[in-house]
Amino acid sequence: MEVIIGKSHDELSKAAAQVIADVVNSKPDAVLGLATGSTPLALYKELIRMHTEEGLDFSHCTTFNLDEYVGLTPDHDQSYHYFMNENLFKHINIPPENIHIPSGTTQNYLAFCEWYEMRIEECDGIDIQVLGIGSDGHIAFNEPGSSLGSRTRIKTLAKQTIEDNARFFDKPEDVPIYAITMGVGTILEADTLILLANGESKAQAISDAIEGPVSSWCTASALQLHPDSLLYIDEAAAAKLKMLDYYQWIQDKKPGAPAGS
Ligand code: GLP
Repeated sequence: MEVIIGKSHDELSKAAAQVIADVVNSKPDAVLGLATGSTPLALYKELIRMHTEEGLDFSHCTTFNLDEYVGLTPDHDQSYHYFMNENLFKHINIPPENIHIPSGTTQNYLAFCEWYEMRIEECDGIDIQVLGIGSDGHIAFNEPGSSLGSRTRIKTLAKQTIEDNARFFDKPEDVPIYAITMGVGTILEADTLILLANGESKAQAISDAIEGPVSSWCTASALQLHPDSLLYIDEAAAAKLKMLDYYQWIQDKKPGAPAGS
């Protein structure tokens, strides 16, 4: 795990966007795993800028989103289909047929989940996966108690998540109770993971994810099992880390470190 702590979420998001741009530039047909929520908005803004001003080319990329609410149609303004289109896809040159987002309205969830996993495999897996973190430590919609080996499936949302996400809906009772989500096992198979977190509401989840035991109680802690994960965390979200000074020291000493470290 590489823990990168910074003052500004915008600056951290730009650094994370550069990592993604490097992947796309070195492998034009890269497979990108994407996330929703307020956290990756600045990252997407930077990718759009890189596309518009620097010609970052997504025309051969394929994308897989982490999750979608069950019951919301793609044109619902709180669906993750709508979010991705508004905040990224309509501003870049990704071919629509290369975009994959779990369906919130399929007639057969079991078959859809199997198909989604199969499509990821057919594309030779995800090169780089963007993640946010829920205040209860979830990644995608893998709520506490989700198996660390789980695959794409339906998940019942935790009350905490429903409360957190109620701000986006007209009424709390409008927040869907179920979601279709990649599993923790699916996520761990991506070559590189990038997790972003900002704000004090994420401080406990970040402390549990980085310094707690690996546990289904905090599914982001599964990143400890991944050989190549980058965590971009602002100071408010990093406030509860016990080894904060060490992570900062590592970053300070990075320029002089032997190659490959
Ligand atoms: C939802 C999404 C997660 C996201 C989380 C945090 O639960 N399924 O992928 O990480 O919200 O959202 P935010 O970035 O708005 O705090």
